[in-house]
Amino acid sequence: MSSAPSVASRIRPIDRVAPAEIQLVAERMRDTLIEVLGPERGATLYDLDWLVARVRWHLDPDRTAEVLVADDPSAGLVGHCIVRADRDEHGAPIGYFSTTYVVPTHRRRGIAAALITAGERFLLVHGLATHVTDTDQHNTPLIALFARRGFAVAYRDTARAMVRLARRAPPP
Ligand SMILES: CC(C)(COP(=O)(O)OP(=O)(O)OC[C@H]1O[C@@H](n2cnc3c(N)ncnc32)[C@H](O)[C@@H]1OP(=O)(O)O)[C@@H](O)C(=O)NCCC(=O)NCCS
Repeated sequence: MSSAPSVASRIRPIDRVAPAEIQLVAERMRDTLIEVLGPERGATLYDLDWLVARVRWHLDPDRTAEVLVADDPSAGLVGHCIVRADRDEHGAPIGYFSTTYVVPTHRRRGIAAALITAGERFLLVHGLATHVTDTDQHNTPLIALFARRGFAVAYRDTARAMVRLARRAPPP
């Protein structure tokens, strides 16, 4: 498993009072949608204002959530990962990976793996040991990324072409 980024990206929480960082993560969320769903659907599903509001929603201090960024000394923010406390379909508490993204120029260097490690740490600190993410069933890179970390398919939603991946973190 790629345990540490081979470049010196520092994984840290987003700067909550830096509108430029919030805007950048929102733009990258749109890039994710375009990459996964295609330019037509991905670019129009949510507008940028909605995505900015969505990032800010995760930064509400009353919410158990974190926006993590990978900060490269020369390239700036090259990736992000958003995690939050959520509930599964039975109402049980889960730690949910809402989105994970690394810019194409910096992929396959272990940055997403490092972001997920930091996300898992955040969730475990908040007592959440069941970790979950959803993605398009054809998103092979993301499925491989999480599978390598022990996530398995919890269920497939064939109508929506989605797959849910889940893992129970071992006790510390
Ligand atoms: C999926 C994504 C986040 C991976 O980021 P990354 O920084 O390149 O991933 P890592 O370098 O940490 O990869 C760790 C491991 O995951 C697996 N993996 C990552 N990308 C892969 C790919 N394209 N194909 C196959 N396996 C892959 C590999 O096992 C890899 O280890 P290795 O490089 O030693 O083989 C990135 O490709 C991305 O941003 N994709 C678009 C956004 C997206 O789909 N987000 C999810 C929306 S729900």
